[in-house]
Amino acid sequence: MDTLSNPILQEDMAYIRQKMDDPARFAGRNILITGCGGFIGFYLTHFFVDLKRQGYGFGKLLLLDAFRSGMPEWVSRLAAEDRDIAVHTFDVARDALKHVQGADAADYVIHMASIASPTYYRQFPVETIEANVMGLQRLLEFYKNRKLEGLLYFSSSEVYGEPDPTCIPTPESYWGHVASMGPRACYDESKRMGETLCYVYYRTFGMPVRIVRPFNNFGPGMSLTDRRAPADFALAVLRNEAIVIHSDGKPTRTFCYIADAIDGYIRVLLHPRFDCFNIGSDGIELSVEQLAGIYSEAAAELWGYAGEVSYAPSPEKDYLTHNPTRRCPDLTKARSELAYCPQTDVAQGVRRYLRFLQKELISA
Ligand SMILES: NC(=O)c1ccc[n+]([C@@H]2O[C@H](COP(=O)([O-])OP(=O)(O)OC[C@H]3O[C@@H](n4cnc5c(N)ncnc54)[C@H](O)[C@@H]3O)[C@@H](O)[C@H]2O)c1
Repeated sequence: MDTLSNPILQEDMAYIRQKMDDPARFAGRNILITGCGGFIGFYLTHFFVDLKRQGYGFGKLLLLDAFRSGMPEWVSRLAAEDRDIAVHTFDVARDALKHVQGADAADYVIHMASIASPTYYRQFPVETIEANVMGLQRLLEFYKNRKLEGLLYFSSSEVYGEPDPTCIPTPESYWGHVASMGPRACYDESKRMGETLCYVYYRTFGMPVRIVRPFNNFGPGMSLTDRRAPADFALAVLRNEAIVIHSDGKPTRTFCYIADAIDGYIRVLLHPRFDCFNIGSDGIELSVEQLAGIYSEAAAELWGYAGEVSYAPSPEKDYLTHNPTRRCPDLTKARSELAYCPQTDVAQGVRRYLRFLQKELISA
């Protein structure tokens, strides 16, 4: 089935497009995305495909991913439908871009390849560092003498570590409070090193690099087996099982619906200068417990879900080690310099995610 026929996705794509100053901005431009097969890749790829279907086009879209657990069906389908889309099974840390046809003609590069779920980066710390440091450097080396319009690096809010409580909401100017050793360090520190690489290649070679620090996105496209809380909770309510929380439920986060996040990422990509931006939601900080409540209420409303919220220690020994207590972005800079303005509240976003999943399951 064509994923873009899902009404939630259609509405979201129209929402993002309407927020663009100029939807024709990518007409004729070649775009290369690494890590296309993941959650954000799902939305970003559909965003570009939808732009083209609406008549705004792109030149070529090159989709790269290691696809370690297989190529998602939607990726192969989109590529089969459009000759301007090419998919490559490609490990950014090992494979050579010179063998990817059309890579040298890219106008925009979006580097998202990384293991992003804490459960998996704790299992694969070396691969996590490789994608964010060696993989990124290979991209920067390949493009440093080529003519790019923009290279967007996906860093993370995790560069802030466990911020001092006086620095929450956290502005981009906060330097971070991060453990260089520990189960999360492979991710947090490699994102920090990635940012340094971007800065150095911008300073040394004048590369048009931009950095985004995403804060907890959720929504359609998030794999249900990804082991991040919004996906775990969706899986539980879809199965009509209890939602299980593996902490005391007290850590707080703000959660950003993916359509708002994509709008922010496009704004950062098109920003005319080197800089880094927080992109997320600065709405109410919710405890994991409250988030579980929102899922259970939404599922009760949508299909009569009557499960409970329960607590159980995670089978993973390091599950809570260095888990930040609070996470909330200061969006002052993104609001003033990018006119970024997220609008979807969490309850709305959760309903949209569950309705998207319901529709996909019915059509499967
Ligand atoms: N989702 C969020 O809330 C969030 C928050 C902060 C930062 N980020 C960052 O945004 C980016 C995308 O996140 P996501 O949620 O879509 O993650 P994801 O795990 O869903 O997708 C990441 C993709 O990268 C691919 N990948 C991993 N290593 C690779 C390699 N060596 N070569 C090629 N491909 C590789 C994976 O196969 C996967 O398809 C990541 O860099 C992540 O760290 C995401």
